[in-house]
Amino acid sequence: MRRESFDHPIPGRETPINLGWTFAEGFEPAWIVAPMPGAAVELPHTAVELPFNYFDEKSYQRPFTYQRSLPWEERFAGREISLHFAGAMADAVVWVNGVEVARHTDGYTPFAVRLTPHLTKGDTLVTVRIDGSENPEIPPFGGRIDYLTYAGLYREVALRVTAPRWIENVKVETPDPLAPAKSVRARVILGGTGDSAEVEARLLDAAGGEVARAAVPVAGDAAEVAFDGIEGLKLWQLSDPALYTLALTLRSDAGEDRTTVRFGFREARFTPTGFMLNGAPLKLMGLNRHQNFPYSGYAQGRRSQERDAEIVKFDLGCNIVRTSHYPQSTWFLDRCDEIGLLVFEEIPGWQHIGGPEWQARSVDNVRGMVERDWNHPSIVIWGVRINESQDSHDFYAETNRVARALDPTRQTGGVRYITDSELLEDVYTMNDFVLGEFENPRTNRPRMALRPRRETTGREAVPYLITEYNGHMFPTKAFDQEQRQAEHVIRHLEVLDAAFGDPAVSGAIGWCAFDYNTHSDFGSGDRICYHGVSTMFREPKFAAYAYASQRDPAEGLVMQPVSFFARGERNIGGVLPLVVLTNCDAVELRYGSTLVKRVEPDRERFPHLPHPPVIIDHRHFRPEEMGLWGMTWEDSTIIGLRDGAPVMTRRYVADPLPTTLEVAPDATRLDAAARDEVRVIVRALDQVGNVLPFLVDTIGIEVDGPARLIGPPRSSLVGGTIGFWLRATGEAGIVRVRVTSDRLPAACIDLRAV
Ligand code: GAL
Repeated sequence: MRRESFDHPIPGRETPINLGWTFAEGFEPAWIVAPMPGAAVELPHTAVELPFNYFDEKSYQRPFTYQRSLPWEERFAGREISLHFAGAMADAVVWVNGVEVARHTDGYTPFAVRLTPHLTKGDTLVTVRIDGSENPEIPPFGGRIDYLTYAGLYREVALRVTAPRWIENVKVETPDPLAPAKSVRARVILGGTGDSAEVEARLLDAAGGEVARAAVPVAGDAAEVAFDGIEGLKLWQLSDPALYTLALTLRSDAGEDRTTVRFGFREARFTPTGFMLNGAPLKLMGLNRHQNFPYSGYAQGRRSQERDAEIVKFDLGCNIVRTSHYPQSTWFLDRCDEIGLLVFEEIPGWQHIGGPEWQARSVDNVRGMVERDWNHPSIVIWGVRINESQDSHDFYAETNRVARALDPTRQTGGVRYITDSELLEDVYTMNDFVLGEFENPRTNRPRMALRPRRETTGREAVPYLITEYNGHMFPTKAFDQEQRQAEHVIRHLEVLDAAFGDPAVSGAIGWCAFDYNTHSDFGSGDRICYHGVSTMFREPKFAAYAYASQRDPAEGLVMQPVSFFARGERNIGGVLPLVVLTNCDAVELRYGSTLVKRVEPDRERFPHLPHPPVIIDHRHFRPEEMGLWGMTWEDSTIIGLRDGAPVMTRRYVADPLPTTLEVAPDATRLDAAARDEVRVIVRALDQVGNVLPFLVDTIGIEVDGPARLIGPPRSSLVGGTIGFWLRATGEAGIVRVRVTSDRLPAACIDLRAV
């Protein structure tokens, strides 16, 4: 069966089937034909909820079974009925009323099963066996991988009811998007049988207003829609990501089928002299994202996926994200489309290339990824190599061929780490890790020499993008000594500075946005790679502001001193050199009642960054002025200045004490029916609102009302903060969250599920 694009459910056509599942550990052949005993669960679902760290990742590497009965509905008569799985990890086999109807081996792409021939007028039993084992026959498995692939039906499922002739997928292209009069070409791919008369296409703007309409005949299994010369349409830009919709109606003797598809007009090109968006150079600055969350693994729904895109764009200030190392949720990609965040999407894999069957599956994964996601304007490049694998000519010639054949509008890349590897892709995408130079920040520049030599490519220069740096070269925890965190910051800044300074580098995508769970072979032994510029709860570490501070002050002012401001936290003591990550013009440090220093960004050390950090160090102080061991330690204030006027102020007290438990939800309204999720961050603050990074205290989380806590009800502050997610249970009402602590007054917040 052809692969399905799992768009948003169309009311009437697609119905979410996320409730009413039964879940059981293991698998019994008897469950194929009869209802099984088990727990009632909702999707997205993780087969095994893991502790935050120090767990056994083998605990989910085994089979599990999901079952759902679908009662007959009158509207099924004479219609085409299918079930659409947005993602199942991994190796899913589906039986319908005892008959095996599908096997899908990729944990990251959607698949559909046809129910039509199996439906009876009673209940239809759907049994899904998933196997969380790291089956070496299936990408990304076969070697060792530095991330976890949590088992479960971890994305949504929908039931689709259409006419016996239906619209299977749509590929929209926008030739010559920069021309003032716009064109649209859409290939409407049909499934099923029936004499089709025509496809009607309506081009709608973001407000749903009709811009153009056409009806075209069906030829074979497709119809080609064309609009030309449409004036007044907007480009999809990062600052104004205009989206358009094609509303399609297929009319055939079998009835009508309708669907919609969203797209944008934009031109994205990697060139040997940099990346161009809509004809203008754009330096790409981004971070890699793994799709996991604490406790729930992969199993979080729409709001959590969308929020991650918002964090990367608005909190971290990035303009690109790489979906390392697999296709991620369409909710995430949709949000990238909506907010203007570019995406590098790639196939599943990590260093290991398996045998011919494995490779065939990987080629199929290219197809699955491209056919699902080809209409997202945010996606600007397809990653068609196994991340950091060796050269493999025939295999990668084929992955490139398939990607280009399916989607000639996007360039390919393939993330590598061996120098002078064969370039079969359009863009040379390189993980730029400094080897053998541990602990030496001055050598932490991207090794521009990693660009392939002319002898390898036969070309003078090729488009070049840095796809990873830092990460395991300098793992850093939010509760590490601030000196290490300051170096973490500098290492990120140095790579960014070098990338900004070299017009031939399209940009740099750091490793990585968020800490992530991993196997015992990687990370800090506790099953976490502390490689993020944010924690797993998406709380920023100092390095987060290395990115955030590069943005235009008009998009938000940033001023983050890289310090806890304590006398004795650093070796020898004091807080110098003090890095202040900011997009202000200057920073004023006031120490005690008399000392005032005004310092400008360090353009000498970071000549290319849009906003170099302010670095206050011994050049600005006489030795006796500040921070000497044995002198009184005083309160301080740091003020950010723009055009000479104070615009931001940060105070530090010399005697910080636990004062407030802050409970900060991302939102206070939850969509009950959609089983909405919300992240809540808890922070222990001192008298002036600074996080107390070393406070040792347990936290109790009590939830009263129609929401469920994801994760444990008791945990402890780590680096002064902790987070959790709540998921609506379906009823409307007030959700009262009470967070308790031994040291601080309890804090309550009310959320409203509507
Ligand atoms: C890279 C790899 C990433 C991650 C990173 C850690 O080699 O591509 O997945 O493991 O190292 O720095």
